[in-house]
Amino acid sequence: MSGWLGIEGKTIIVTGGSSGIGKAVVEALLENDAHVVLADLHEPEQELYDKAKDNQLVFVSTNVTERSSVVNLVNETKKQFGTIDVIVNNAGINIPRLLIDPKEENSKFELSDVTFDKIVSINQKGVFLCSQIAGREMVKAGKGVIVNMVSESGLEGSEGQSAYAATKAAIYSFTRSWAKELGKYNVRVVGLAPGILEKTGLRTPAYEEALAYTRGITVEQLRQGYTNKSIPLRRDGKLKEVADLVAFLSSDRASYITGTTYTIAGGKTRG
Ligand SMILES: NC(=O)c1ccc[n+]([C@@H]2O[C@H](COP(=O)([O-])OP(=O)(O)OC[C@H]3O[C@@H](n4cnc5c(N)ncnc54)[C@H](O)[C@@H]3O)[C@@H](O)[C@H]2O)c1
Repeated sequence: MSGWLGIEGKTIIVTGGSSGIGKAVVEALLENDAHVVLADLHEPEQELYDKAKDNQLVFVSTNVTERSSVVNLVNETKKQFGTIDVIVNNAGINIPRLLIDPKEENSKFELSDVTFDKIVSINQKGVFLCSQIAGREMVKAGKGVIVNMVSESGLEGSEGQSAYAATKAAIYSFTRSWAKELGKYNVRVVGLAPGILEKTGLRTPAYEEALAYTRGITVEQLRQGYTNKSIPLRRDGKLKEVADLVAFLSSDRASYITGTTYTIAGGKTRG
């Protein structure tokens, strides 16, 4: 008997699936008997393979910023499973930096050209490349879903994270525009925008140090803020909660949903 979601046997690519949200997404999809192609710079830990049935999970070493690497990902997926039903554009980075550091011009916490280009190339160009190359297969097949991992900061803006937030705002816009372009080919494009979540690989000591600096607070104060009163549910979100929404949006249960980005932030933000 098939499950309520009905994604058994669907082929779903997850970029950045070796860590954090992406890993939780891979687990949710495996639980629901989808075929998963994990595209990441780093191979996942063995425990993820242990959760998969025979040939259910394939890792393809991928750099989403390089066209040839994404072409290889799509070719390998077709070779392994024949089709691409869904791509989850999840790979992303965040390097907190100030536009202007009044304490020191060109300080290590000011946004440099190099950091700007790095954030844009992974968070924005990577989503473009993956959507174009995988999306072409979906248009040919007359069906498919592109799921974009956005962030509430894309709508809200974020102190000390302007370059990151701007790339996420771009993904809100990609989601709207591509839904308009691809709807006629029965390809849906949807986004989801998490707020504050339990810890992932993104929240490194360097990240926390930089973000605290840009906000003029200590790392300790920053950590206290993760579950502050600005979240009506008074807690951070679980990766599994985000993963469940991805699984739903990937499924035909969401068949009339396109061109929109769901906020999943415990009530913290509008949208
Ligand atoms: N963690 C949060 O609180 C949060 C909130 C909102 C949105 N997001 C978004 O969720 C996504 C996942 O974030 P996370 O917190 O799980 O981070 P993470 O650091 O735990 O995982 C990101 C993964 O992406 C991979 N990756 C990085 N660059 C890549 C590249 N060039 N090619 C292929 N893979 C690459 C990394 O190897 C890593 O496995 C990101 O897009 C992030 O912006 C996270």
